[in-house]
Amino acid sequence: MHNVMKSFRETLASASNILILTGSGISAESGVPTFRGAGGFWRKYQAPSLATPEAFAANPSLVWEFYEYRRQLVSKVAPNKAHKAVADFQKRKLEEGKRVSIVTQNIDGLHQKAGASNVLELHGSLYRTRCTKCGDVVTNEKIPICEALEGKGSPDPSIMFSDIPIEELPRCSIKDCGALLRPDIIWFGEQLNSNVLKKAFELVETCDACLVIGTSAIVYPAAMFAPQIAQRNVPVGEFNIEETPATRQVQYHFKGPSSVTVTQALAP
Ligand SMILES: NC(=O)c1ccc[n+]([C@@H]2O[C@H](COP(=O)([O-])OP(=O)(O)OC[C@H]3O[C@@H](n4cnc5c(N)ncnc54)[C@H](O)[C@@H]3O)[C@@H](O)[C@H]2O)c1
Ligand SMILES: [Zn+2]
Repeated sequence: MHNVMKSFRETLASASNILILTGSGISAESGVPTFRGAGGFWRKYQAPSLATPEAFAANPSLVWEFYEYRRQLVSKVAPNKAHKAVADFQKRKLEEGKRVSIVTQNIDGLHQKAGASNVLELHGSLYRTRCTKCGDVVTNEKIPICEALEGKGSPDPSIMFSDIPIEELPRCSIKDCGALLRPDIIWFGEQLNSNVLKKAFELVETCDACLVIGTSAIVYPAAMFAPQIAQRNVPVGEFNIEETPATRQVQYHFKGPSSVTVTQALAP
């Protein structure tokens, strides 16, 4: 094993409050495309352009089709070796009386599927809806999410949008509400939930080792977590297939697919 990896593993062995920060790169090898890269298109649209409140206001039918597609896709894939290594590591450390916290930008639920516990989801979840009127949040794993979206959501660029009437899109089930539902996801330009953010900052300020896996360090606020931790002289290991704006600021950089590098770092 490479000396740098050996040194990082020794660091982890002596740490007692480890923060694992993950982004869409950790799920890429499960077949969930990242937004930045070749997989970032759905039909003729750039995926991030549909993940905005403006896109939903302008065309809720189109945005629901996009999310129906992502729900279908994610429900069919399995966690990969990196998700499993993270979950197993968390269990092992817990048995030693130590703490491993997982903070993710992902909305795909794959950490939980792999057996991880207490996953802090910064950007929400594909499997929850939020009412646009009363704010009620509900877990919903049904596919299709409503009858009108049955068979919809194909990424084929030749398909136009379906213009599903707003009454037939997912609706709130609270008595006397019945308003339009949206995915319970933080879209580009929206604020993170303040309680979730507070918990994340607590971990950023108290952890004694950190792994940053598959995130570009471009999407705020998660982008500043790793540099902030490194500034406290806490060892941070970055796992990515490429360098990021955080690379120069952290102590360790492991280049390669996370299924390989993370598995090495976290193996018993
Ligand atoms: N799986 C998901 O839940 C998912 C997927 C796409 C987008 N999103 C949402 O959109 C936001 C922006 O997404 P994004 O895709 O631009 O994220 P991002 O900006 O964090 O970029 C993904 C990073 O993963 C790296 N990467 C790709 N494959 C990898 C691999 N096999 N191993 C290690 N690293 C790898 C890339 O180099 C890149 O730096 C996310 O924060 C999330 O909320 C979620
Ligand atoms: Zn409602």
